[in-house]
Amino acid sequence: CGIVGYNGNLDAKEILLKGLEKLEYRGYDSAGIAIQNEKGVTVFKEKGRIADLRNIVDKNIGGKIGIGHTRWATHGEPNRINAHPHQSASGRFTIVHNGVIENYHLLQREYLKDVPMKSDTDTEVIVQLVELFANEGLSTEEAFRKTLSLLHGSYAIALLDNKNNEVIYVAKNKSPLLVGIGKDFNVVASDAMAMLQLTNQFIELQDQEVVLVYKDKVEISKLDGSPVARQPYTVELDASDIEKGTYPHYMLKEMDEQPGVVRKIIQEYSNDAGELTIDEAILSAISESDRIYIIAAGTSYHAGLVGKQYFEKLAGIPVEVHIASEFGYNIPLLSEKPLFIFISQSGETADSRQVLVKVKELGYPALTITNVAGSTLSREADYTLLLYAGPEIAVASTKAYVAQLAVLAISAYVTGKRKGRKIDFDLKHELAIAANAIQTIVDSKEELHKISKEYLSHTRNAFFIGRTIDYYVSLEGALKLKEISYIQAEGFAGGELKHGTIALIEKGTPVFALVTQAPVALNIRGNVKEVVARGANACVISMEGLDEHDDRLVIPKVHPLLTPLVSVVPLQFISYYAALDRGCDVDKPRNLAKSVTVE
Ligand code: G6P
Repeated sequence: CGIVGYNGNLDAKEILLKGLEKLEYRGYDSAGIAIQNEKGVTVFKEKGRIADLRNIVDKNIGGKIGIGHTRWATHGEPNRINAHPHQSASGRFTIVHNGVIENYHLLQREYLKDVPMKSDTDTEVIVQLVELFANEGLSTEEAFRKTLSLLHGSYAIALLDNKNNEVIYVAKNKSPLLVGIGKDFNVVASDAMAMLQLTNQFIELQDQEVVLVYKDKVEISKLDGSPVARQPYTVELDASDIEKGTYPHYMLKEMDEQPGVVRKIIQEYSNDAGELTIDEAILSAISESDRIYIIAAGTSYHAGLVGKQYFEKLAGIPVEVHIASEFGYNIPLLSEKPLFIFISQSGETADSRQVLVKVKELGYPALTITNVAGSTLSREADYTLLLYAGPEIAVASTKAYVAQLAVLAISAYVTGKRKGRKIDFDLKHELAIAANAIQTIVDSKEELHKISKEYLSHTRNAFFIGRTIDYYVSLEGALKLKEISYIQAEGFAGGELKHGTIALIEKGTPVFALVTQAPVALNIRGNVKEVVARGANACVISMEGLDEHDDRLVIPKVHPLLTPLVSVVPLQFISYYAALDRGCDVDKPRNLAKSVTVE
């Protein structure tokens, strides 16, 4: 979910709606805004996208203070009633909230037995508590603080009181929240992107802080009331980076940008002598660790699997790769000198963040690899390596994955060199070749559209197989296809399919097989024969030098460790076209969010 708030001299509704559009990557099940003027607070909310909300907002409503929310449902189905803002029983207080209140049932039972609830959400409990304590005689600020002190869980909250149209009450714990500072106005948002058209000056909030946002000042304090002084910082992001221009979809634009992203990374990670390099402190932290623990979710987890190969083969450091939501609750036996690497495009994924909090409590060093400078995971880790991929807006991650692989390869390579390991190739040169190879694939998108039609037009399911490093790319290929086209897809280790899953192969079942690794090329071709013998419609994607006559697509030759950067690209395009041909919403697939900010 994402929240925004505006307090200033301009009409708030358009500012809030525009801000929410920029936050849709955080969820888009339902959305709402509340506008406050002399007459009080008016709420507009709707199931669906910001565009649906826009349709129902009264064009004539005026108000210079307001809050808004775009939702990714956790408690309660995505419908109008459960959409935010939520109001207290009398309608005096109005709230938007991102996060999860773990003890809301307990609070409801203990304090709100007699208050009829309007929604199924945990959020409503917060606003009802504020009203309860205000009715008992506390000021709004006191009632807000008392309520916050009872909450267990994560929250970014903005609250309006219809008896006071000068201030927005704001608080944060675990969920991200920034205050934007302007001339004659102030704003709040889950992410700077939402308010970049208005200001590039932001103050970052820490957990358990409370802010009173007036139009001409902001007052930050700790939960206990003690004041906090903090200077704003400048966000260096160009609002034009987040427009899609003439492209029909962000995903297409972002896939097309991939060769440029790899070149940009080469440049950003080269020193004056033209050699690949990373920050000295990070290099030491990696070199000194006896084991790396990579923590990530979704596509970033798939990048982590490839990263393991890089660190083990190039730097000689053993690596474990863990799914963030599992690791925190099942911490394995750790080595003596672990280094934690968090891979996250957004730097905001709550599952990863809860692990980072635990890792810091345990006192271990943490490095975040992210696309978003200043994101929560970046701020809270000891070190950050940036992806330089530019904003990724489409929910399905493409260019960030390729960027993650490139940055992981560079980190492992530079570490290996530092440790004096024998590395017999020039990574910079090989990455440049990979960038060209990606360009070749991007340029053949019409052919990829044909492949997509040929294999995926009438299917319910599809399989992706590969061995060794190709297996990891198969997992990513399957994820791409299922998340945007809703075709059930599975990635499998080529040799494992026969141990059960092959039972699903029927006449015509599409099986995409990757053949980029010489040592296992014959083995995976054997696996292709096994599925073809059972009726599968096999699409072999091989690499030049390993190709055979019947292969459906041959990708240009690149260094064997870098094949994932290239072989994933045709799979992205094939998924894109499958989704497009099925009439799916490519950039905003159902049920998903770009960045899941709740655990
Ligand atoms: C969400 C997105 C995925 C993404 C995952 C991890 O589930 O839908 O595409 O891979 O989060 O996101 P992160 O920003 O941490 O890489």
